[in-house]
Amino acid sequence: MTTTSEPMNSRTGTGHRPVGGRQPWWQRPWVVPLAFLAAVFLVYSLPPYLGLDPASSRVPAPPGVGWYYPALVAHIGFASVAMVTCVLQVWPWFRQRHPVAHRRIGRVYVFAGVLPAGVMGLAIALAGPFGPVAATSNALLAVLWLIFTIAGFRMARARRFGEHRKWMIRSFALTMSIISNRIWAVVWALALEPQLATTFGGSEQALGQAIAGLTTWTGWVFPLLIAQWWLERGRGRKTANRSQSVAAR
Ligand code: HEM
Repeated sequence: MTTTSEPMNSRTGTGHRPVGGRQPWWQRPWVVPLAFLAAVFLVYSLPPYLGLDPASSRVPAPPGVGWYYPALVAHIGFASVAMVTCVLQVWPWFRQRHPVAHRRIGRVYVFAGVLPAGVMGLAIALAGPFGPVAATSNALLAVLWLIFTIAGFRMARARRFGEHRKWMIRSFALTMSIISNRIWAVVWALALEPQLATTFGGSEQALGQAIAGLTTWTGWVFPLLIAQWWLERGRGRKTANRSQSVAAR
């Protein structure tokens, strides 16, 4: 039984809307750019970690935290699984045509992706080298990522597919937010570096922590707000239409 107004899809049994499968791929151009973005991100991000050499890491391990590098590499490996599987899971055509694969890949997304990557992400966030503002943001991001994903999985198990869809869209937004994070890093660096001598009193460390803190907060808060707006927008329109027709009576 579904608990929301979203109708159950009798063809897939998933409660997902069937329209995605009917539209040709060129009318759904976001799947291709999304996969391209994820591929570019992974091709850029993974190489320094493939050789398992701490000296190549883009993130310096905090002094005295021996487990940091192994946890970072584990986080990156599992998070890559989450990113790749996530692109497949949100593709309407794939969901409709391959519902069994959607369920199997969904389990991979949860258990070999988000759960281990989120737990490792939380650990490296709390021990991170970029100061308390970035640490707080990353830790909250990790906790929300775990909560949204577990909620989405539980809703699917309970066959509450409308709720499942909502939680997984939020989880998806956080998974992909790492890409927006990298864009914000460039924006904040360009905006703040000229202020090194003024706002930051010449302190490279203060500047670095400000860039890292702002980058991580803006990196995930905006994608999550957009996802929430996207989930609400249809309902808002329907409610407005309903009130208009009631007022017109
Ligand atoms: C959404 C929850 C996530 C959290 C909480 C998280 C947390 C972190 C943290 C704390 C670091 C250490 C650097 C820092 O302190 O900023 C890090 C690094 C990294 N994460 Fe994540 N992460 C998440 C998602 C992802 C995803 C989906 C990927 C995709 C593969 C990813 C790939 C990486 C990479 C490649 C690094 C190393 C930094 C670099 O080389 O640029 N993370 N992450």
